[in-house]
Amino acid sequence: MQLDEVMRTTFSCRSWTDQPVSDEVLHRILDNARFAPNGGNRQGWRVIVVNDTATREAFIPLIKPTTSVYLAQAKAGEGPWNSVIPTAVDIEAAIAADPPFPGVVEMTQAPAVLVFTVDLSVVASFDKDLDRVGVISGASIYPFVWNVLLAARNEGLGGVLTTYLAGQEANVQELLGVPAHHAIAAMVPLGYPTKQLTKLKRKPVESFTTIDRFDGPAFAPVIEAARTGFTVTSNEIVSGGTLALPQVSGIFGAGGQDVSPHLAWSGFPDETKSFVVTCYDPDAPTGSGFWHWNVVDIPASVTELATDAGSQDGANLPTGAFHVKNDAGLPGYLGAAPPPGHGKHRYVFTVHALSVESLGIDGSVTNAIAGFNMFGKVLASAQIVPTYEQQG
Ligand SMILES: Cc1cc2nc3c(=O)[nH]c(=O)nc-3n(C[C@H](O)[C@H](O)[C@H](O)COP(=O)(O)O)c2cc1C
Repeated sequence: MQLDEVMRTTFSCRSWTDQPVSDEVLHRILDNARFAPNGGNRQGWRVIVVNDTATREAFIPLIKPTTSVYLAQAKAGEGPWNSVIPTAVDIEAAIAADPPFPGVVEMTQAPAVLVFTVDLSVVASFDKDLDRVGVISGASIYPFVWNVLLAARNEGLGGVLTTYLAGQEANVQELLGVPAHHAIAAMVPLGYPTKQLTKLKRKPVESFTTIDRFDGPAFAPVIEAARTGFTVTSNEIVSGGTLALPQVSGIFGAGGQDVSPHLAWSGFPDETKSFVVTCYDPDAPTGSGFWHWNVVDIPASVTELATDAGSQDGANLPTGAFHVKNDAGLPGYLGAAPPPGHGKHRYVFTVHALSVESLGIDGSVTNAIAGFNMFGKVLASAQIVPTYEQQG
């Protein structure tokens, strides 16, 4: 299995078939996982393969107080078990209520159950003197635990990283004979999934990555078509080629016809909900380039725009799509019209695959506002960049 597929499809599996997990497979998983990074390469991890039924059953009452508090806090609208905002929940009452929590019993009955501990006497906890909960120590154990889950996925297995056993650490240590300086880091049930999920809900890169500072601009480069497999082709334009006269402007007196070129695209992400097609001249001497064309809310089922889809009356657009006015103030495609003698201009035709069905704008907004509304919603983009020049 390809690494990127493994990474993108290792979901939290909480339901398994009866098929046992052989010791050979389990050993192979751990044998691959042990190459995980860890502070100072001290490898303070230990793994307990819990086969004994009574021991597994004993986990259930040790997990329950933690899940009871979790449920009560979630019900109160709190972020359960966070270490920043004090809880308003009556913890003792929450534990006494002892509500059922889905999945716990099933996990203890999974084909394989692993408990992970980490030896705190060898972990460099660089944040141990800070006035907040420790984070660094976990980095010497969870890359290993996650490696186990990735390696398991690669074997066709599924599991889930759980931490709710840690709430009763002393009792778990006693039950399993774990020394006091070993933290109970995780319990991971494993087996063959009853159903393999392939689409995990995660936020896009631009929503959590910034440049230079926490409050810096989003890290949102245009993704090269080659990396995603997303490509756009045309019967009329080609990257590096010269635009033909139909795609040059008549309206702006450059002797052309303002006919938008045919475009077809493929290989876009499965999650795509709509497309935006734009044509932009970054070389226009305006200080902000020049937007020649902007079609938004193209349904995800559309993978082609016919020649002249950008006619000013909008008649050739797919149902649901509409024009945002170009920088000439016209609702359609404006052909190339670089000032004579200004050299070669690039005309960047871009197809953006978006994570939303609609940008929620109307055709009267500026192109900057349209672009701003795409922020954080672009899954992938593909481009064709022809050029055009008028001799001076
Ligand atoms: C540090 C950590 C602790 C977690 N603890 C639990 C847990 O105690 N019980 C549980 O069922 N899932 C637990 N999870 C699994 C998360 O709920 C899961 O990763 C998340 O909901 C994403 O699910 P998905 O990968 O299926 O999209 C934990 C995950 C992490 C990373």
